[in-house]
Amino acid sequence: MIEIKKMVVKVSGKTILDGINLTVKPGEVVAIMGPNGSGKSTLAYALAGHPKYEISNFQFPISNKKKKNNWIIKLDGKRIDDKSPDERAKAGLFLANQYPMSIPGLGIYSFLWQTWKKRSQISDFRSQKDPKVMSLVEFRKYVVELAQSLNLNLELLGRSLNDGFSGGEKKKMEILQMLVFSPKYLVLDEIDSGLDVDALKIIAQSVAKVAKEKNIGVLVITHYNRILKYLPADKVVILEKGKIIKTGGKKLAEEIEEIGYGKI
Ligand SMILES: Nc1ncnc2c1ncn2[C@@H]1O[C@H](COP(=O)(O)OP(=O)(O)OP(=O)(O)O)[C@@H](O)[C@H]1O
Ligand SMILES: [Mg+2]
Repeated sequence: MIEIKKMVVKVSGKTILDGINLTVKPGEVVAIMGPNGSGKSTLAYALAGHPKYEISNFQFPISNKKKKNNWIIKLDGKRIDDKSPDERAKAGLFLANQYPMSIPGLGIYSFLWQTWKKRSQISDFRSQKDPKVMSLVEFRKYVVELAQSLNLNLELLGRSLNDGFSGGEKKKMEILQMLVFSPKYLVLDEIDSGLDVDALKIIAQSVAKVAKEKNIGVLVITHYNRILKYLPADKVVILEKGKIIKTGGKKLAEEIEEIGYGKI
C-alpha cells in the first residue's frame, strides 16, 4: 500500500501541496482530478522523489523529519520519503510522466535492457519473465510483444528514447516501460492527454488488465472521465489549491465532467 500522511510539498519555498492524506492499496485504482495548477503533477513528482520538491509533514518541522515516526510516505510499510528516486523505483514505484523526456542518443532497447538488468538484481522483481534466463535476443522479442499489445509502431523501437516522437507516441512509450518493468505501484500523470480515442482505449485497457493480473495499485491523474471508462476507479479524489476537497466513487468523476469543479 502507498500511504501518504499529512504531506506538505514546497517548491522554491512556495507551498504547493498542503497536508495531503492518501492511500492506494494493491490492486486499487485511485483517480486524482482537479483544476489546472491544483498540484496533481506535484503530487506525482513528490511521490517519485524529484529533488526540486521539498517534502515535509504537517505536524513536524523539517528539522525533525528524520525521526522514526515522522514518516510522510510509506510503501508496503516501509518509509520511502527519505529515499532517492532510484531507491523508490526499486521499491516498486513507477511514474509515467505528463511530459516524458526525450534523450537523443539513448537507444530504446539499450535503455530498457540496462534498466531491466539493474532491476532484475532485486529479489522481489515481479515481471513474469525470469531475467536470469533471458538473453538480449529474447528480451527484444519480449519488448516487441508488449509493444504490439499497445499497437505501438515497431519502427519507433529502433530510435532514441522519445526523440522526435509525437505526444501520443511518448505516452505509449511510458506505458511500454511500465509493462516491461511491471511495478507494484503505478502513477499515471495525464497519460490520456494527447492520445487519440483508439490509443486511449488500448492503453487504458492494458493498464487495467495488468493492474488486475498483478495486483498493481494505480494512481491515475486525469482531467477526463473517459479514461475511467476503461480503467475504472475505485476512488476519486479531488484536489484544489493543494488540498483534497472531496473524495468519492466513480459518480464523482461523472459529475465533474458534467458540471465542472465550481459546483461540487
Ligand atoms: N518548479 C516550480 N516552480 C514554481 N512553481 C511551481 C513549480 N512546480 C509547480 N509549481 C506551481 O505549483 C502549482 C501546481 O502545479 P502542478 O503542475 O502540480 O499542477 P497540476 O494540477 O498538475 O496542473 P495541470 O492540470 O495543468 O497539469 C502551479 O501553480 C505551478 O505553477
Ligand atoms: Mg499536471
